Amino acid sequence: MDDLASLCKRRGFIFQSSEIYGGLNGFWDYGPLGCELKRNVRNAWWQDMVQTREDVVGLDCSIIMHPRVWEASGHIGGFADPMVDCRACKKRYRADQLCEEQGQALIKREDGSLALPEGIVCTACKSKELTEPRAFNLMFKTFVGPVEDASAVAYLRPETAQGIFAQFGNVLATARQKIPFGIAQIGKAFRNEINPRNYTFRSREFEQMELEFFVKPGADAEWHAYWVAERLKWYASIGLPAASLTQYVYTQKELAHYASACTDIMYAFPFGVQELEGIAARGDFDLSRHQQFSGKSMEYFDPETNEKFLPHVIEPSGGVDRIALALLCNAYAEEWVPKQGPAIPAERGKQAPEGYEARTVMRFAPRIAPIKVAVFPLLKNKPELVARARAIFGQLQRHWICFYDTAGAIGRRYRRQDEAGTPFCLTIDFQTLEDGTLTLRHRDSMQQERIHEKELLAHLSGLIDAW
Ligand code: GAP
Repeated sequence: MDDLASLCKRRGFIFQSSEIYGGLNGFWDYGPLGCELKRNVRNAWWQDMVQTREDVVGLDCSIIMHPRVWEASGHIGGFADPMVDCRACKKRYRADQLCEEQGQALIKREDGSLALPEGIVCTACKSKELTEPRAFNLMFKTFVGPVEDASAVAYLRPETAQGIFAQFGNVLATARQKIPFGIAQIGKAFRNEINPRNYTFRSREFEQMELEFFVKPGADAEWHAYWVAERLKWYASIGLPAASLTQYVYTQKELAHYASACTDIMYAFPFGVQELEGIAARGDFDLSRHQQFSGKSMEYFDPETNEKFLPHVIEPSGGVDRIALALLCNAYAEEWVPKQGPAIPAERGKQAPEGYEARTVMRFAPRIAPIKVAVFPLLKNKPELVARARAIFGQLQRHWICFYDTAGAIGRRYRRQDEAGTPFCLTIDFQTLEDGTLTLRHRDSMQQERIHEKELLAHLSGLIDAW
């Protein structure tokens, strides 16, 4: 993780938020490469979940909504984590995580209150002087308008899902969709996590991609299975190999009282196997709660059967930042490259052997690589080469994020693009001026081929846009 975090900083994927002021725990900024990576994750999701389907429409809700939304959803009453403090050194922990780290489980008493098991100590100072676990609500509070009193309290949304439920009626009335159909939303969510950790994995500000797919009551199991399979296919399409993913199927005991099924898609991060996305069958819980709290009907009228009913919902809910982190972990590779022939994986902590050169390469799938193509004139002081390279660059920029580089030997320019994860590099040389061909270099195999300028766009499109 340290090597990856250092590459992310060095190459401009991820920076600590407000770094010049010492940073702010749980908040991150995405640099030029990171913001392209995240944009590609969002676009891939939107393409597959909305654009290429007829049964899903998009929505973009405000981050701050009426506080009653969060009463109805249960977030004001129940969206809390158990927190303990060390009386000796004042360090604060999430009680369940602290117990888990010490091989124990938090005790749930019959009256619902929580207690630490015997033997739990403060990780930092080893003191046993820990407070009783107490519930800490994770929603960020703010005030709307100039008066900071109780009537002005509002919350930053802790999930995007509730906006979709609250607008269900308006979408239904305008989108000309019939059940089964879905509403998709991508946007920021905020949780005042007690213990943000594992780099960007658990942050206080993050982005969610959520689909609420409304189905006829009774069709829940079938549609839940469908969405688990669809989502696994999607992860393959962005380059996360099936072998790196697992499914965690909730037992009856683990499910929320209203849910009939939940499957988490898990990725094997360097810090453990952790959730990327949850796919839950939530019944009619959300719509019925909003119907109850708002007094507005959330029922669907089925024109075929003349029946009115509250739809049930299947909710695939993923996090852009977590998926981006999984993609970064998956892409990172250190290799030893011989003068001729294929590279071999580097051995950790060792120098490359005689005749080999070390390289770090980010093996992103072309679909999500931040920069798709880099364009190099062989020499920067030959105006004919520069003009030709610039013309090609200008043409390609209209289709993809490209990078133009004239600095240093070609080999060094290739290495820089390897670290950025750019799948294709083009070199314009003297032969280009004679016959219109140029060198296309592939990041993973490091193989080079000569192709004609006229075929360039179609050739690259086949490599980048096909998935
Ligand atoms: N509407 C359902 C919901 O919000 P969740 O499991 O709490 O479910 C869904 O969140 C996804 O949002 C998670 O799978 C994860 O990818 C992302 N997520 C949740 N909390 C996060 C955090 N603190 N930092 C980064 N991503 C987070």
